[in-house]
Amino acid sequence: MQAIFERRSVRNFLPKPVEAEKVERILRAGFEAPSAHNRRPWEFLVVTEREDLKAIADMSPYAKMCAGAGAVIALCANLKLGASPDPGDTWWVQDLSAATENILLQIVDEGLGGVWLGWYPDEGRVRAFASRFGIPGHSIPFSLVALGYPAKIPSRKDRFYPEKVHYGVWGP
Ligand SMILES: Cc1cc2nc3c(=O)[nH]c(=O)nc-3n(C[C@H](O)[C@H](O)[C@H](O)COP(=O)(O)O)c2cc1C
Repeated sequence: MQAIFERRSVRNFLPKPVEAEKVERILRAGFEAPSAHNRRPWEFLVVTEREDLKAIADMSPYAKMCAGAGAVIALCANLKLGASPDPGDTWWVQDLSAATENILLQIVDEGLGGVWLGWYPDEGRVRAFASRFGIPGHSIPFSLVALGYPAKIPSRKDRFYPEKVHYGVWGP
């Protein structure tokens, strides 16, 4: 699948809005992710207003690119949909991660670029985002994806390391 090998984090965007049809296909890709017990505990918030994007950029030292992004999609875990707060039941973290990767790959397929921004479990970021965007207490902003038309395509090189692959038993 070409998108997997083409994908690289894009942090520089052209000042060009992302079409609503593309955003919808990107969201659809998120909804298609696998999830433990098929709980699908995700909900999405799409942010496109420049003032809001700038506010997100100020919530994390690693989210500065949001100010110039075409959109930010926040992937939230809904505790009522089975994203249990129980520390022994954190499958939802994997569910939301799978949805995040699906979204990043569809972004590539749409001719766009994007970057995954870690949000949960940083309490400050979670609180700041929830407060600004009215996220209810039963939803956790897990990850953000900043996306847009790439201003610069990052270079890539092969990352396959045969020495990190083990067959049958864990050899030397
Ligand atoms: C859980 C997670 C959190 C990340 N958080 C950030 C972030 O806050 N800011 C950022 O610029 N990149 C973030 N990234 C992107 C990584 O820096 C990037 O994936 C890594 O450097 C590899 O580069 P690549 O995506 O181009 O393959 C995050 C990636 C993951 C998986």
